Amino acid sequence: MKILVIGGGGREHALAWKLAQSARVTQVLCAPGNGGTVDGKVENVSDAGSTPAELAAYAARHEVGLTVVGPEAPLVEGIVDTFEAAGLRIFGPNRQAAQLEESKAFTKDVLAEAGVATAAHGTFTDAAAAHAYVDAQGAPIVVKADGLAAGKGVTVCETVEQAHAAIDEAMVEAAFGDAGAKVVIEEMLLGEEASFIALVDGEHVLPLASSQDHKRIGEGDTGPNTGGMGAYSPAPVVTDELFEQATTQVCEPVVRALRARGITFKGVLYAGLMIHEGVARVLEFNVRFGDPECQPLMMRLRSDLVDVLEATIDGRLDEIELDWDPRAAACVVMAAEGYPATPRKGDEIGGLAEAAGVSDAQVFHAGTRLAQAEAGSPVVTSGGRVLGVTALGDSIALAVRRAYEACEKINWRGAQYRRDIGHRAL
Ligand code: AMP
Ligand code: GLY
Repeated sequence: MKILVIGGGGREHALAWKLAQSARVTQVLCAPGNGGTVDGKVENVSDAGSTPAELAAYAARHEVGLTVVGPEAPLVEGIVDTFEAAGLRIFGPNRQAAQLEESKAFTKDVLAEAGVATAAHGTFTDAAAAHAYVDAQGAPIVVKADGLAAGKGVTVCETVEQAHAAIDEAMVEAAFGDAGAKVVIEEMLLGEEASFIALVDGEHVLPLASSQDHKRIGEGDTGPNTGGMGAYSPAPVVTDELFEQATTQVCEPVVRALRARGITFKGVLYAGLMIHEGVARVLEFNVRFGDPECQPLMMRLRSDLVDVLEATIDGRLDEIELDWDPRAAACVVMAAEGYPATPRKGDEIGGLAEAAGVSDAQVFHAGTRLAQAEAGSPVVTSGGRVLGVTALGDSIALAVRRAYEACEKINWRGAQYRRDIGHRAL
C-alpha cells in the first residue's frame, strides 16, 4: 500500500519513518516532507499541491491507500471531509471534530457538557466586557485568543494591567487576526503540566504511552514558549492513576459529549493537563500528535502503525493492544540561532552521517531541506526547529545521554539545544 503523509516537520518524519517499517507499505510519499524524508521507501513529492482538494486529487491519481495528516491546519481546513467525500482513506478528525483545537470557546462548552474539570472562565467577543471581567476577577488570570495563533495566543498574566494589555492586543490591535476576535479569560491553575495522548475511533479511547514535552526555550524551563524543545516517554508525572483518570474522566466523556452534538471524533486526541493534588484539569486539546512528543513515541511503538491507524478509522480500537518497547525514549530538539523569534536559515548541517551511527539513535528532520534535489545533496537548515535527535535507552537518563551523544556529532552555524531535556523525570 502507498501512504501519503501531509506535513513537513519532525512529527511527520517520525510518522513516515515508522509507517515505512510496515511490511504492508510499499512507499511513503511526503507532502511536502523535508530534508530527512528521503530514505528507502520514503520520498518527497513536489507536485501534490497544498489545498485539501489538490491533495485528494493527488491521492486518487497515485492510488494512495491511506493518508496521514500531521499538523492541525489542514484538519481545521477540513481535509478529512474532502478526502472522505472522495471515498479516500484518511487518518485524522474531520472539520467539526477539529474545533477542539481550533476554538478554545468551543472546547470550554464541550468540557462543560462533558462534566470535565477545567479552569473557570468567561468567553468574550466584546472588549469592554472582557476588561470588566478582569476587573471583577483580579489577577493572576489567563487571557487566551479563541483561535489558532501559532502558540502565541495565550498570556498568563500576573497583574490586572497585563491582562488588560493582553485583551487589547487580541481584540483591539488584532495581533492574532481573526483568532483573537473572541477571547477566553480563565482562572490561573497551579500544578504540574502533563500531556496525555490517545487514539479515538469515534467511540473507544486507546491511550498511547505517556510522554512529556519541554515548551520553553531555556534550560530549567525558562524563557519564551516554543513548539517544544524536547520530549521523552514514559513521563513519570503521568502515574497509573492519572492515566486512568485522563482516559475515563477526560477523554471518554469528551468523546461522548461530542457524539451527543452529532460529532464523531476519529484520530489523535491530545489533552494538555494541569495536575494539582492528584486531580487533572484540562488546559487545552490538540487534535494531532504532539511535536516533538511523536518522535519518542514512534521510537517506542512496536505495533504496526498502519494497522493501528486503520483500526482508528474503522472503529475497531477495542480490538487493538499496543506493543511498546519497555525502554525509554528521549528527543532533543536542535534549533536554529534566533529561534523562536527569528530563526536563521540556509546553513549547511554537518555530522548527520556520524550521528546516524550512534546505536539506538534516530535523527528526525524538521526544518531542513536538501540543497539540491539529487540524492546525496547537502542538507541545509530551513526552519526554527531543525532536528529532533531521538534515542532509546534502558532509562530516561540513558536515553537522554544517547540522544546528546548524537547531538554532539552534529553541527551548523548557530545550532542551539537545551542540555537538560528530561530533567523533571530524572
Ligand atoms: P494552551 O495553549 O492553552 O495550552 O496554553 C499554553 C500554555 O499556557 C500552557 O502550556 C500553560 O503553561 C499555560 N496555561 C494555559 N492556561 C493556563 C491556566 N489556566 N493556568 C495556568 N497556566 C496556563
Ligand atoms: N509539543 C506541543 C504540541 O505539539 O502542541
